[in-house]
Amino acid sequence: MDHFLYRDGMLHAEDVPLSEIAAEVGTPCYVYSTATLTRHFRLFDEALSGMDHLVCYAMKAASNQAILKLMASLGAGMDVVSGGEYARAIAAGVPGDKIVFSGVGKTREEMTAALKGGVRQFNLESEPEMEALNEVALSLGVVAPVTVRVNPDVDAKTHAKIATGKSENKFGIPISRAPEVYGRIAQMKGLKAVGIDVHIGSQLTDLEPYRQAFTKVKELTQVLRDQGHDIIRLDLGGGLGIPYDRGNSAPPLPVEYGALVREVLGDTGCEIEIEPGRLIAGNAGIMLSKVIYVKEGEGRNFLILDGAMNDLIRPAMYEAHHDIVPLVEPAPGAEQSPYDIVGPVCETGDTFAKGRNMPVLKADDLVAFRSAGAYGAVMASEYNTRPLIPEVLVHGDQFAVIRSRPSYEEIINRDTLPGWM
Ligand code: LLP
Repeated sequence: MDHFLYRDGMLHAEDVPLSEIAAEVGTPCYVYSTATLTRHFRLFDEALSGMDHLVCYAMKAASNQAILKLMASLGAGMDVVSGGEYARAIAAGVPGDKIVFSGVGKTREEMTAALKGGVRQFNLESEPEMEALNEVALSLGVVAPVTVRVNPDVDAKTHAKIATGKSENKFGIPISRAPEVYGRIAQMKGLKAVGIDVHIGSQLTDLEPYRQAFTKVKELTQVLRDQGHDIIRLDLGGGLGIPYDRGNSAPPLPVEYGALVREVLGDTGCEIEIEPGRLIAGNAGIMLSKVIYVKEGEGRNFLILDGAMNDLIRPAMYEAHHDIVPLVEPAPGAEQSPYDIVGPVCETGDTFAKGRNMPVLKADDLVAFRSAGAYGAVMASEYNTRPLIPEVLVHGDQFAVIRSRPSYEEIINRDTLPGWM
């Protein structure tokens, strides 16, 4: 459920008509709902109630400071994958002991920053990384808390570009090697193993792969404990999917996911960490856009929008579906027409949808891309020197710009000319 609903014939974000935001901020722009973000975080928090747990928001999904501050105020920890994300979490007031550092290629500089600023744990992805972290920790005279991300070789049945838990993926250490790797960690004075990490992919729509992965993690917990390792924490990943297409059946709910965690891992006595991004932010955001032209092509009509692939890359990159709806509510039974919905960027890949049935639209009409809150703004670029689009946060009947649109001057002034020119 989200808080983008038609009211009095106009799509609203909570109590704010989206036409008002479009008029004030301009299009294209992203709009997030505080109520939906809050609701989705709480769904996970409540799903794990009764178990010692921490929901670490995967900020790669949407990392605006205002969103992070909101998450932090709800008690969220953060899952970060770069020095930049770590700095964002700290800037948003997240305490270091609630920040989990994930990612396959953490540099020594990133490790140093996190060890100095405070970190809950590093999720190690390889042995060279483990050796580097040990050296960095020793040089700083500290002990780094770590888990090893194990690759359980489970097929998450999701898009190939976002599956992470098969042996051919770049992530983690094969689970069969884990006992040996934990043995090595025990010898390293700069590291202290505190748990196990697993992540099998994103936009998962079936609980079965989780069951397989969690069962393997449970077995490994026992093996490692028998070897004398202190396994007190399990970081469970694999992001639950969201319904992108309202016509489709919905993926499992956080409460069902929580029940599975409890069933498989509840008796390990471990603290449970999860790192959801998409389910928290995805349906909590939309992208607003305006029709520039309706162009009649041969055998097809194009809706040319002011939003483009640089603003929302998911359709071009993953053939992802986003529902696109007009801001003005169509009358029941209103005439529909198929459109190819495209942006103005000079690539054929700048196509959001083909032959999509839409109410008949004309120039200057406004549309909203639903489910654009996760992996929308964060993956945007300034390709074609199109400025990064603004982000807006709604709270009840208020809204605020939480990132403004840069001017052309600001964009140009980021470049510097070499001395010889
Ligand atoms: N933790 C780790 C280690 C991850 O790799 C990911 C996502 C997450 C947490 C968050 O997963 P989520 O709850 O959002 O599913 N750009 C793609 C999605 C890439 C996800 C990569 N990893 C998209 O637009 O679909």
